[in-house]
Amino acid sequence: SRLWWVVPAAGQGRRMGAERPKQYLQIDGRPVLAHTLERLHRAIPQAGLCLCLDSDDRWFDSAWVPFDDWRRVKGGTERVDSVANALAILAGEAADDDLILVHDVARPCVWIEDLWRLVEVLNGEPAGALLAAPVADTVKRDDGHAHVRTTVSREGLWQALTPQGFRYRLLCRAFDVARERGLAVTDEASAVEALGVSPRLVAARRDNLKITHPEDLALAAHILATQAA
Ligand code: C5P
Repeated sequence: SRLWWVVPAAGQGRRMGAERPKQYLQIDGRPVLAHTLERLHRAIPQAGLCLCLDSDDRWFDSAWVPFDDWRRVKGGTERVDSVANALAILAGEAADDDLILVHDVARPCVWIEDLWRLVEVLNGEPAGALLAAPVADTVKRDDGHAHVRTTVSREGLWQALTPQGFRYRLLCRAFDVARERGLAVTDEASAVEALGVSPRLVAARRDNLKITHPEDLALAAHILATQAA
Protein backbone atom coordinates (compact mmCIF):
# COMPACT_ATOMS: atom_id res chain seq x y z
CA SER A 1 0.00 0.00 0.00
CA ARG A 2 1.04 3.62 -0.57
CA LEU A 3 1.38 6.63 1.65
CA TRP A 4 -0.09 10.05 0.86
CA TRP A 5 0.55 13.35 2.56
CA VAL A 6 -2.48 15.62 2.62
CA VAL A 7 -1.47 19.17 3.50
CA PRO A 8 -4.30 21.67 4.07
CA ALA A 9 -2.79 25.05 3.16
CA ALA A 10 -5.87 27.03 2.18
CA GLY A 11 -6.25 29.02 5.39
CA GLN A 12 -6.12 32.80 5.54
CA GLY A 13 -4.33 32.88 8.89
CA ARG A 14 -6.34 35.85 10.15
CA ARG A 15 -5.14 35.53 13.75
CA MET A 16 -1.65 36.28 12.43
CA GLY A 17 -2.72 39.74 11.26
CA ALA A 18 -0.04 39.66 8.55
CA GLU A 19 -0.19 41.04 5.02
CA ARG A 20 -0.18 37.55 3.54
CA PRO A 21 -1.39 34.09 4.70
CA LYS A 22 0.92 32.71 7.38
CA GLN A 23 2.11 29.79 5.25
CA TYR A 24 3.85 32.37 3.03
CA LEU A 25 5.64 34.25 5.82
CA GLN A 26 9.39 33.79 5.59
CA ILE A 27 11.67 31.87 7.90
CA ASP A 28 15.34 32.01 6.98
CA GLY A 29 14.55 33.24 3.47
CA ARG A 30 11.90 30.63 2.64
CA PRO A 31 8.16 30.47 3.25
CA VAL A 32 6.73 28.30 6.02
CA LEU A 33 5.07 26.15 3.33
CA ALA A 34 8.45 25.29 1.77
CA HIS A 35 9.90 24.29 5.17
CA THR A 36 6.92 22.07 5.94
CA LEU A 37 6.91 20.29 2.57
CA GLU A 38 10.66 19.79 2.68
CA ARG A 39 10.38 18.11 6.05
CA LEU A 40 7.61 15.74 4.92
CA HIS A 41 9.62 14.92 1.80
CA ARG A 42 12.78 14.22 3.79
CA ALA A 43 10.84 11.81 6.00
CA ILE A 44 9.10 9.88 3.19
CA PRO A 45 10.28 10.98 -0.28
CA GLN A 46 8.33 8.33 -2.20
CA ALA A 47 4.95 9.44 -0.81
CA GLY A 48 2.37 11.25 -2.93
CA LEU A 49 1.20 14.72 -1.95
CA CYS A 50 -2.18 16.48 -2.07
CA LEU A 51 -1.67 20.18 -1.40
CA CYS A 52 -4.89 22.08 -0.66
CA LEU A 53 -4.64 25.70 -1.78
CA ASP A 54 -7.12 28.53 -1.98
CA SER A 55 -8.35 29.06 -5.57
CA ASP A 56 -7.37 32.75 -5.27
CA ASP A 57 -3.92 31.99 -3.87
CA ARG A 58 -1.48 34.43 -5.51
CA TRP A 59 1.55 33.56 -3.37
CA PHE A 60 2.09 29.90 -4.22
CA ASP A 61 5.11 28.83 -6.28
CA SER A 62 5.38 25.19 -7.37
CA ALA A 63 9.18 25.45 -7.02
CA TRP A 64 8.58 24.93 -3.29
CA VAL A 65 7.18 21.43 -3.81
CA PRO A 66 9.92 18.80 -3.56
CA PHE A 67 7.65 15.84 -4.42
CA ASP A 68 7.61 14.21 -7.88
CA ASP A 69 4.08 12.94 -7.45
CA TRP A 70 1.80 15.72 -6.26
CA ARG A 71 -1.49 17.38 -7.10
CA ARG A 72 -3.00 20.72 -6.27
CA VAL A 73 -6.40 20.48 -4.56
CA LYS A 74 -8.98 23.22 -4.20
CA GLY A 75 -9.27 24.48 -0.63
CA GLY A 76 -12.65 24.49 1.11
CA THR A 77 -14.45 26.85 3.48
CA GLU A 78 -13.00 25.16 6.56
CA ARG A 79 -9.96 22.98 7.11
CA VAL A 80 -12.18 19.87 7.12
CA ASP A 81 -13.57 20.85 3.69
CA SER A 82 -10.06 21.21 2.28
CA VAL A 83 -9.15 17.73 3.52
CA ALA A 84 -12.44 16.32 2.17
CA ASN A 85 -11.56 17.74 -1.27
CA ALA A 86 -8.23 15.91 -1.13
CA LEU A 87 -9.95 12.63 -0.24
CA ALA A 88 -12.29 13.13 -3.21
CA ILE A 89 -9.36 13.77 -5.59
CA LEU A 90 -7.73 10.54 -4.41
CA ALA A 91 -10.86 8.49 -5.14
CA GLY A 92 -9.56 7.09 -8.41
CA GLU A 93 -6.01 6.64 -7.19
CA ALA A 94 -5.74 5.63 -3.56
CA ALA A 95 -6.38 2.06 -2.48
CA ASP A 96 -8.63 1.34 0.51
CA ASP A 97 -5.68 0.51 2.74
CA ASP A 98 -3.38 3.32 1.61
CA LEU A 99 -2.24 5.51 4.49
CA ILE A 100 -3.41 9.12 4.45
CA LEU A 101 -1.33 11.42 6.65
CA VAL A 102 -2.84 14.85 7.15
CA HIS A 103 -0.41 17.56 8.27
CA ASP A 104 -1.06 21.28 8.84
CA VAL A 105 1.07 23.47 6.59
CA ALA A 106 1.52 25.74 9.63
CA ARG A 107 3.58 23.07 11.47
CA PRO A 108 7.05 23.24 9.91
CA CYS A 109 8.88 22.11 13.08
CA VAL A 110 7.63 18.51 13.25
CA TRP A 111 10.54 16.14 13.92
CA ILE A 112 11.46 13.60 11.26
CA GLU A 113 11.87 10.96 13.97
CA ASP A 114 8.30 11.61 15.13
CA LEU A 115 7.06 11.20 11.55
CA TRP A 116 8.86 7.88 11.24
CA ARG A 117 7.55 6.67 14.59
CA LEU A 118 4.00 7.60 13.61
CA VAL A 119 4.24 5.64 10.36
CA GLU A 120 5.70 2.66 12.22
CA VAL A 121 2.74 2.72 14.63
CA LEU A 122 0.26 3.13 11.77
CA ASN A 123 1.52 0.01 10.05
CA GLY A 124 0.17 -2.06 12.95
CA GLU A 125 -2.81 0.09 13.99
CA PRO A 126 -6.09 -0.18 12.06
CA ALA A 127 -7.68 2.60 14.18
CA GLY A 128 -5.16 5.16 12.95
CA ALA A 129 -2.90 7.38 15.04
CA LEU A 130 -1.92 10.96 15.67
CA LEU A 131 1.02 12.84 17.13
CA ALA A 132 0.07 14.30 20.48
CA ALA A 133 1.61 15.79 23.60
CA PRO A 134 0.46 15.41 27.21
CA VAL A 135 -1.00 18.70 28.45
CA ALA A 136 1.65 20.44 30.58
CA ASP A 137 -0.29 23.40 31.97
CA THR A 138 -3.05 23.41 34.55
CA VAL A 139 -6.31 23.81 32.65
CA LYS A 140 -9.25 25.98 33.74
CA ARG A 141 -12.82 26.05 32.50
CA ASP A 142 -14.43 29.51 32.68
CA ASP A 143 -17.96 30.46 33.65
CA GLY A 144 -18.49 32.40 30.43
CA HIS A 145 -17.37 35.66 32.07
CA ALA A 146 -13.61 35.17 32.50
CA HIS A 147 -13.89 33.77 36.00
CA VAL A 148 -12.81 30.25 36.81
CA ARG A 149 -15.63 27.80 37.17
CA THR A 150 -13.49 24.69 37.62
CA THR A 151 -9.99 23.35 37.32
CA VAL A 152 -9.91 20.47 34.86
CA SER A 153 -7.64 17.63 35.87
CA ARG A 154 -4.91 17.40 33.26
CA GLU A 155 -4.46 13.73 33.93
CA GLY A 156 -5.04 11.85 30.72
CA LEU A 157 -5.36 15.05 28.66
CA TRP A 158 -3.40 15.39 25.44
CA GLN A 159 -2.96 18.13 22.91
CA ALA A 160 -3.73 16.82 19.42
CA LEU A 161 -0.98 17.70 16.92
CA THR A 162 -0.45 16.65 13.33
CA PRO A 163 0.20 14.55 11.35
CA GLN A 164 -2.84 12.38 11.90
CA GLY A 165 -2.88 9.18 9.87
CA PHE A 166 -5.63 6.77 8.82
CA ARG A 167 -6.36 4.17 6.17
CA TYR A 168 -8.04 5.80 3.20
CA ARG A 169 -11.30 3.86 3.50
CA LEU A 170 -11.69 4.54 7.22
CA LEU A 171 -11.08 8.27 6.82
CA CYS A 172 -13.54 8.57 3.93
CA ARG A 173 -16.20 6.76 5.94
CA ALA A 174 -15.51 8.96 8.98
CA PHE A 175 -15.86 12.14 6.92
CA ASP A 176 -19.10 10.89 5.34
CA VAL A 177 -20.62 10.15 8.73
CA ALA A 178 -19.42 13.45 10.22
CA ARG A 179 -21.04 15.30 7.32
CA GLU A 180 -24.33 13.36 7.61
CA ARG A 181 -24.52 14.09 11.34
CA GLY A 182 -23.40 17.71 10.94
CA LEU A 183 -20.54 17.25 13.42
CA ALA A 184 -18.03 20.05 13.94
CA VAL A 185 -14.75 18.40 13.00
CA THR A 186 -11.52 20.24 13.83
CA ASP A 187 -9.19 17.32 13.25
CA GLU A 188 -9.35 13.99 11.41
CA ALA A 189 -9.26 11.96 14.62
CA SER A 190 -12.51 13.49 15.88
CA ALA A 191 -14.30 12.33 12.74
CA VAL A 192 -12.92 8.81 13.20
CA GLU A 193 -13.87 8.86 16.90
CA ALA A 194 -17.46 9.57 15.88
CA LEU A 195 -17.45 6.09 14.30
CA GLY A 196 -16.64 4.62 17.70
CA VAL A 197 -13.04 3.96 16.67
CA SER A 198 -10.22 5.05 19.03
CA PRO A 199 -7.09 6.29 17.26
CA ARG A 200 -3.75 5.75 18.99
CA LEU A 201 -1.95 8.68 20.62
CA VAL A 202 1.75 8.81 19.71
CA ALA A 203 3.75 11.00 22.11
CA ALA A 204 5.62 13.63 20.12
CA ARG A 205 7.97 16.54 20.76
CA ARG A 206 5.88 19.47 21.89
CA ASP A 207 7.91 21.95 19.84
CA ASN A 208 5.83 20.79 16.84
CA LEU A 209 3.99 24.09 17.21
CA LYS A 210 1.30 25.41 14.91
CA ILE A 211 2.22 28.91 13.78
CA THR A 212 -0.91 30.85 14.70
CA HIS A 213 -0.07 34.16 16.41
CA PRO A 214 2.61 36.74 15.47
CA GLU A 215 5.01 35.64 18.23
CA ASP A 216 4.99 32.05 16.90
CA LEU A 217 7.04 32.91 13.82
CA ALA A 218 10.20 33.84 15.74
CA LEU A 219 9.71 30.78 17.93
CA ALA A 220 9.44 28.50 14.88
CA ALA A 221 12.52 30.13 13.32
CA HIS A 222 14.47 29.42 16.50
CA ILE A 223 13.27 25.80 16.68
CA LEU A 224 14.16 25.17 13.03
CA ALA A 225 17.62 26.71 13.51
CA THR A 226 18.39 24.55 16.55
CA GLN A 227 17.06 21.39 14.87
CA ALA A 228 19.37 22.03 11.93
CA ALA A 229 22.39 22.61 14.19
O1 C5P B 1 -6.02 28.30 11.02
P1 C5P B 1 -5.43 27.00 11.46
O2 C5P B 1 -3.96 27.11 11.76
O3 C5P B 1 -6.17 26.33 12.55
O4 C5P B 1 -5.55 26.04 10.19
C1 C5P B 1 -5.01 24.74 10.25
C2 C5P B 1 -4.58 24.29 8.87
O5 C5P B 1 -5.71 24.17 7.99
C3 C5P B 1 -3.63 25.26 8.19
O6 C5P B 1 -2.64 24.45 7.58
C4 C5P B 1 -4.52 25.98 7.19
O7 C5P B 1 -3.84 26.45 6.05
C5 C5P B 1 -5.51 24.88 6.81
N1 C5P B 1 -6.81 25.37 6.31
C6 C5P B 1 -7.29 24.97 5.06
N2 C5P B 1 -8.51 25.41 4.60
C7 C5P B 1 -9.25 26.24 5.33
C8 C5P B 1 -8.80 26.66 6.61
C9 C5P B 1 -7.58 26.20 7.08
O8 C5P B 1 -6.61 24.22 4.36
N3 C5P B 1 -10.41 26.67 4.84
